Amino acid sequence: MIEFRGAGPAEFSERLDSVIDIYTAAMNPPPDQITGRKTIMRNHGTYPLFQCYFAELREASPEEEEKRPSAQQPEIVGFAYGFRGAPGQWWHDVVFRALEDQAGREAAMAWLGHAFELAEIHVHPDYQGKGIGRAMIRTLCAGRQERSAVLSTHDRPTAARHLYASMGFTDLLAQFVFPGGYEHYAIVGRPLPLA
Ligand SMILES: CC(C)(COP(=O)(O)OP(=O)(O)OC[C@H]1O[C@@H](n2cnc3c(N)ncnc32)[C@H](O)[C@@H]1OP(=O)(O)O)[C@@H](O)C(=O)NCCC(=O)NCCS
Repeated sequence: MIEFRGAGPAEFSERLDSVIDIYTAAMNPPPDQITGRKTIMRNHGTYPLFQCYFAELREASPEEEEKRPSAQQPEIVGFAYGFRGAPGQWWHDVVFRALEDQAGREAAMAWLGHAFELAEIHVHPDYQGKGIGRAMIRTLCAGRQERSAVLSTHDRPTAARHLYASMGFTDLLAQFVFPGGYEHYAIVGRPLPLA
């Protein structure tokens, strides 16, 4: 049984090793990038209005769940988190400038001036395709006060790209290459609240 649970910055930081394990299983990054990614994620936990959801594996019955040793935390099979985008944050500043160049300051302000940045969403491959990703995005966005939700994803026909499009996210920038990178990304956004 999968249970969704909100976690604040302190718990996120405490469980960062499990979070990184899910990220690694889902994204299969080059091993030499994992430490850097962990540092970036730890830093994300300090950003304003940070909010995380864990999808955790629970025993089927409350009786079985009771038997779990108290020191043993339920296994995380997916996580998603985001925060309020703000000037001074690397992603925010890079994307703001690019959108401003392409569509003008008004459009950049409209999308990024009061935005929820959905920074990471990953589900362990054994649990993908069961509705966990969609549920985590819905839950995360439901409580937000921002005007829009924005994120970047590889600009390829992936499950992620399909999922975001099906939830009403549209392309703000396509085939975008971040400074120092080489892969192509799409920056997508949608107004909040979700319908
Ligand atoms: C993207 C991701 C978070 C989605 O989570 P999920 O729990 O698998 O997604 P859901 O079960 O809610 O399904 C969402 C849609 O994607 C499709 N999908 C999910 N996994 C898929 C897979 N492995 N292959 C093809 N389609 C897939 C589903 O069919 C569903 O579409 P539908 O509702 O139209 O049928 C997850 O697949 C993942 O972790 N992928 C690898 C990491 C990644 O790309 N993260 C996002 C980076 S921006």
